[in-house]
Amino acid sequence: MFARYDLIVIGGGPGGYVAAIRGAQEGFKVALVDSDGLGGTCLNRGCIPTKFMLHVSNIYREAIHGEEVGIIAKDVSYDLAKIHARKDEIVHKLRDGVAALLSANSVDVFEGFGCVVAPGRVRVSSEEVTFIDGERILLAVGAAPMIPPIPGVRLPGVITSDTLLDGPPKDISGLAIIGGGVIGVEMASVYANLGVPVTVLQAMDRLLPLLDSEIGQSISMMLKKRGAAVYTSATVREIVKSDGGLTVNFSGKNGDESVECENVLIAVGRKPHLGCVMIDGQELKVDGGIVVDDRFRTSIDGIYAVGDCVSGTPQLAHVAHAQATNAVCMMAGKEPEMDLSLIPNCIYTDPEIATVGLTSDAAKKLGISARTSKYIMSGHGKSLLTGHDRGFVKLVFDTETEVLLGAQLMCGRASDMIGELTSAIESKQTASQLSSIIHPHPSFSEGIGEAVENFFGRAVHVAPPKVSRR
Ligand code: NAI
Repeated sequence: MFARYDLIVIGGGPGGYVAAIRGAQEGFKVALVDSDGLGGTCLNRGCIPTKFMLHVSNIYREAIHGEEVGIIAKDVSYDLAKIHARKDEIVHKLRDGVAALLSANSVDVFEGFGCVVAPGRVRVSSEEVTFIDGERILLAVGAAPMIPPIPGVRLPGVITSDTLLDGPPKDISGLAIIGGGVIGVEMASVYANLGVPVTVLQAMDRLLPLLDSEIGQSISMMLKKRGAAVYTSATVREIVKSDGGLTVNFSGKNGDESVECENVLIAVGRKPHLGCVMIDGQELKVDGGIVVDDRFRTSIDGIYAVGDCVSGTPQLAHVAHAQATNAVCMMAGKEPEMDLSLIPNCIYTDPEIATVGLTSDAAKKLGISARTSKYIMSGHGKSLLTGHDRGFVKLVFDTETEVLLGAQLMCGRASDMIGELTSAIESKQTASQLSSIIHPHPSFSEGIGEAVENFFGRAVHVAPPKVSRR
């Protein structure tokens, strides 16, 4: 007889640990199996370490350019070992917090690789092999960096965000980044801030191609201003060893070109983990990721899946969290609590980028007549005084009903402000209703108020004449 649970969760990231804790709160006896450090990609080699690196590298850049605001810091340098030590301290603290929450909710944690080997049975492999049984099994096994079939991609010096963020500090003296998506621009920001020569090679015609086109153009300008080279419509042909370390040969808008660097970061997307179900005669349905229905049930009875391993799901920690909550609610016979149709998306560059709902292009494709109202932050006090005056707030309204449909922000604290706009879209607020809301002065959130006022053609803080700044 093996230990028996109401719910076994495989994977201890934001999908897995949230499901385990919520399952216990619903009265289930829960086991959580994790092979890789509680907290998953987000905590160990994703959101948390990257945002720390972005924070620290911004401090460094601001110190170097402090003279503009009267701060004279001589001989500014950084100590990568110390930066990594602090990052690890934060990660460990948060990981301990997850372990404490699981323990407080009486979740049994099994360290090892979990694999469903028979209906309702999970094998946990570590130094010893343990079997546990569960009425329901939830897969929250995440994803790993995708490695494209480019010649030379296995050469020493070619790295992924995993190796960059989870492991010994890497003193990088020159970085080429293949991929101009979220990881590409965030890591380009970190290293450009630290003064490392960075080249971004993006296959599509702009950075962040899934977002509003103005965001991709603006982030490209920002990276170039900080010394990075950005190539769009670039096809990488090969990576070869050279005297300078590595050379990336690519075809771009100007024909065949190459860039020499010490390291090449592969950031072309993440591939779901799939090898955790091996039941004789039963095949898990897969289409890029694990296929689930609207109750997060996979093609095999009693097995559920949430988070980055699920086909077509946005690979975001807060999405995994929300899916886990809904999946467990439904297992417990309750209505799902989270609205998964409205997902805020944030990118932690400086200025930050945050979006939710429809862009004007997306609205057009859906046949919705939409009107965009925009406010440029260059006339705005808080943005000017903090040096964040290159951003904007764009709001997309339904022309007929004047209901807010979407928001695209590129400005200071955008990731904190997107919540206000998510609630506004969720509660179908109109431009007039939004216009009645007072925003504190001075605050970045005034930009939202001004964008709403612009819908009526009456913004107060207008852009001053251009002054040249770095
Ligand atoms: P991504 O899908 O965001 O971007 C990959 C980019 O690489 C695409 O724009 C694509 O055009 C480009 N690409 C693909 N093959 C290429 C090639 N051979 N040469 C040049 N360019 C190529 O994937 P990314 O950046 O790896 O991120 C993975 C996932 O992690 C995403 O879903 C992202 O949303 C998530 N993530 C979220 C963060 C956040 O919320 N702040 C931070 C980091 C990652």
